[in-house]
Amino acid sequence: MKSVQINRYGGSEAVGINKDVPEPTVSAGKVLVNVKAAGVNPADLKIREGYFQQMIPLQFPSTMGADISGIIKELGEGVSNSGLKRGDEVYGAASAVFSGGSGAFAELALVNEDTIAHKPKTLNHIEAAGLPTVGVSAWQGLIENIGLSKDKKILIHGGAGGIGSIAIQLAKHLGAYIATTASTIDEQFVQELGANQMIDYKTENFEDILHDYDGVFDTVGGDTYKRSFKVLKKGSGIITSMLEQPNSELMNRYGVKALVQFTQANRQLLTKLAEWVDQNNIKVNIDKTFSIDEAADALDYQRDIHPRGKVVITV
Ligand SMILES: NC(=O)c1ccc[n+]([C@@H]2O[C@H](COP(=O)([O-])OP(=O)(O)OC[C@H]3O[C@@H](n4cnc5c(N)ncnc54)[C@H](OP(=O)(O)O)[C@@H]3O)[C@@H](O)[C@H]2O)c1
Repeated sequence: MKSVQINRYGGSEAVGINKDVPEPTVSAGKVLVNVKAAGVNPADLKIREGYFQQMIPLQFPSTMGADISGIIKELGEGVSNSGLKRGDEVYGAASAVFSGGSGAFAELALVNEDTIAHKPKTLNHIEAAGLPTVGVSAWQGLIENIGLSKDKKILIHGGAGGIGSIAIQLAKHLGAYIATTASTIDEQFVQELGANQMIDYKTENFEDILHDYDGVFDTVGGDTYKRSFKVLKKGSGIITSMLEQPNSELMNRYGVKALVQFTQANRQLLTKLAEWVDQNNIKVNIDKTFSIDEAADALDYQRDIHPRGKVVITV
């Protein structure tokens, strides 16, 4: 089968399309999926470049990618108990690094039964492949970590990005007042998603404009993370970051809570996410698709062009 693999850490030149990779063998607790589409995430670039090599060293050759949408080809022993059966349309996480899968950028992916679920019916495979990591991130961030609810004020950094574009729709659904940071060219896009207020992060300082916010969902990190503490409500404000460890000095100075988030897709959350998407007409904005043969270009596009929503590889 065809598979997008790396044989070493590096840039685009490390990515190869291998046409004769053996099909994964299905084992107990695993599901073999005919991949229809695979979503690209910033983490795919970080893994390729060796960012996580101390924590989880790769075994080469390693098939790239995490997010998939596809059709079940075969079930391992015991999997039928999960309500999954051959021919079902599913989506989820097939990462070889974080999810015990065989990698997403391939014609077939072996996936842990706990990290896939039935895909949203209102999304096609391309849209569904763009959802697992960013949808679960937004859900864990806003609902589980921040506890966002009606009439609360939330600042979502990077509102036009993969996580941000789902987080805005989720915050809107929860009835919150939403401020978001993005570039001016993305103003109409984030407003259509549901943002009440957009701050151009290139020309304005959000911390001079926003005050007494209940929560900040940080998908940017660095200086943006540090400046965010100032907008939070003293005593009850909470910041959840996708990138930064809690800064205790800033927590104490501003009297707020800070959390770092590690996104973990699981069947229960993916199922809830799919139901929410189907019931509320939620959109996964696909910025651009690439064929599996163009996987290296898809990764470069994710890094250089700053997509509005998601980049997806069609298989
Ligand atoms: N901890 C975890 O488990 C976990 C899980 C998933 C993702 N992540 C991380 O979370 C981050 C976001 O992921 P993603 O998929 O949403 O990425 P993405 O699709 O690339 O979106 C990032 C967004 O941030 C915007 N941005 C860049 N600099 C900004 C700034 N200074 N202020 C405000 N917005 C800014 C970009 O806008 P422009 O296009 O205008 O630059 C872009 O829209 C990545 O670093 C990713 O690795 C972590």
